[in-house]
Amino acid sequence: MENKKVWYVTGASKGLGLTLVKELLEQGYRVAATSRCKNALVEAVGSSDDFLPLEVDLGSEASIASSLQAAQTLFGRIDVVVNNAGYGIGGAIEELSNEEIALNFDINVFAPIRVIQKVMPYLRAQRSGHIINISSIAGFAGVTGWAAYAAAKAAVTALSEVMAQDVESLGIKVTAVCPGALKTQFLSSESLVLSGNKIDDYQDVHSSHERYLAMDGKQIGDPKKVAEVLVQLVENPHPPVFLYLGSDAWGRAAAKATHLCDQLDIWKNVSYSTTTAAVPVPQSSFHPSY
Ligand SMILES: NC(=O)c1ccc[n+]([C@@H]2O[C@H](COP(=O)([O-])OP(=O)(O)OC[C@H]3O[C@@H](n4cnc5c(N)ncnc54)[C@H](OP(=O)(O)O)[C@@H]3O)[C@@H](O)[C@H]2O)c1
Repeated sequence: MENKKVWYVTGASKGLGLTLVKELLEQGYRVAATSRCKNALVEAVGSSDDFLPLEVDLGSEASIASSLQAAQTLFGRIDVVVNNAGYGIGGAIEELSNEEIALNFDINVFAPIRVIQKVMPYLRAQRSGHIINISSIAGFAGVTGWAAYAAAKAAVTALSEVMAQDVESLGIKVTAVCPGALKTQFLSSESLVLSGNKIDDYQDVHSSHERYLAMDGKQIGDPKKVAEVLVQLVENPHPPVFLYLGSDAWGRAAAKATHLCDQLDIWKNVSYSTTTAAVPVPQSSFHPSY
């Protein structure tokens, strides 16, 4: 038991985070998990010697730092960090306030950044670790009505991509996990934020929101299956930098990749027209872990 990896999971009182924590404990891992409400977390998970519930304000560096210190002190190490806490925000950019967008970025983007900044000293000292950032298919192939959420998740995916290269030589792995729709509380009114400032011209945006709200409870993605994949991912010696989960996510990513290739071909002459010399196209990917 003692040689099994120690996990640290954010946003674990419900949804994917809760499902993952339960799966990990069932499989005998040691888990530190965060929530804004420790009581809700304990009520949802129960208690065990292998489980450290932590009340953490993900907006506070100090709160995150002390939670990581507590996990390190109790379990002696931290092997896997899952930046899971996050929520959706819908509305045309013009309909959302800067405060609403900034708050969403604070949890979806800056909280993972704070966690990474505070956990890296532990992982660097160990010369091992795996950071899993829960992004979304929206961060690669976004749809009408969710621009701010897509931008936040694109930031998570992009920082994961470069960070994977930055920390590879330190023995640390980074994966951006990009799920499609998952049957969690994500689309419930307790989690999702929709702009109250509706501008009539944005009918397609509002129709998109209605379609998503009607999907609540009927999403095809199973968080337990995602949790099982995450456990296997961490045991894989060559995890990918991007992992799209769900047939919906895979399909959207594949369609976007094809569209990107088509657009690159169509606009190639214009792209090349702005340089004085043609740089050779890399024959293989520029990052060995891709
Ligand atoms: N469900 C989907 O369709 C879907 C698809 C793609 C990606 N995702 C991503 O998957 C992750 C997990 O979401 P979920 O589907 O499990 O949704 P969920 O059931 O609503 O759970 C979200 C978790 O994030 C935390 N959280 C939400 N808002 C927060 C805030 N303002 N401050 C701090 N923590 C907050 C909550 O933690 P506490 O209440 O415990 O503090 C909660 O446990 C998110 O990053 C989400 O963007 C979800």
